[in-house]
Amino acid sequence: MPGSKVMKINKKYCLCEKRLKEIVKDTVIGSKLHFFNSVTSTFDEILKFEESEGLTVVAAHQTKGSGRLGRIWESNTGGIYFSFMLKNINNSVDAPFITLICALAVQRALSEYISCEIKWPNDVVSNGKKLCGILTKSSLCDGKIKNILVGIGVNANNSFSSELVYATSLKQLTGKDIDENELLYKILKELDICYYEKSRKEVLEEYTKACVNIGRKVTIHYTNGLSDVVGVCDDILFDGTMNVICENGKTLNVNSGEVSVKGIYESERTEK
Ligand code: BTN
Repeated sequence: MPGSKVMKINKKYCLCEKRLKEIVKDTVIGSKLHFFNSVTSTFDEILKFEESEGLTVVAAHQTKGSGRLGRIWESNTGGIYFSFMLKNINNSVDAPFITLICALAVQRALSEYISCEIKWPNDVVSNGKKLCGILTKSSLCDGKIKNILVGIGVNANNSFSSELVYATSLKQLTGKDIDENELLYKILKELDICYYEKSRKEVLEEYTKACVNIGRKVTIHYTNGLSDVVGVCDDILFDGTMNVICENGKTLNVNSGEVSVKGIYESERTEK
């Protein structure tokens, strides 16, 4: 199986404006789609367009891709990088739940290629390594959510060195070229299904089944300097939080904004 070396990307399968516009036709998310070969971040680019539900910016490469908790998102050619806009958000409880909806949608789409799970709150992982990351940003007006921007990065044909123990790509795992245009369309379709068609109950049930953390030991690492907490992930709730039964028996309700969760990636397992 292809491993640590950088694999050649077959241009035939790369994101391409013409093919994308032929394929992506019937989804709300992606209905107004703008494609770029390279941008700083799709989050920067989407702000330049008139706001509308489902407005989407796709890029084949980002020079300043941003990740959760202020991290950099490596955005080389071969990956899929896109941001889209959701308007008419009901209330603030919806914002964290949207993250769960998007993670489920991507996991459903990637499952057509490989067995994969969700790592709470919004990573899609396979074989103990990350295939996709999702970042949501809310824009407020008079204290209410005006819109939510979702940014998704999917490792399709890009490759990672074996030193980068957390990340992998579909191509590295399957040994096959992935048609990035088709994959993006599958994800957009699943986003429509999970966001517009499924009830919250259905989403949460499916998310919970696909969530790799449930019943597993997790270490909650607070980004504000508080000490790590170790426990077992018990449940994911409608507000997007995770319930952890701590080693001292107490239940902790964890909000994704302030923590990173350890204990799932292959490289972390030796720590336990
Ligand atoms: C994470 O840290 O797991 C979230 C990564 C989100 C990356 C995507 S790529 C498209 C969009 N543009 C960005 O700059 N970031 C998000």
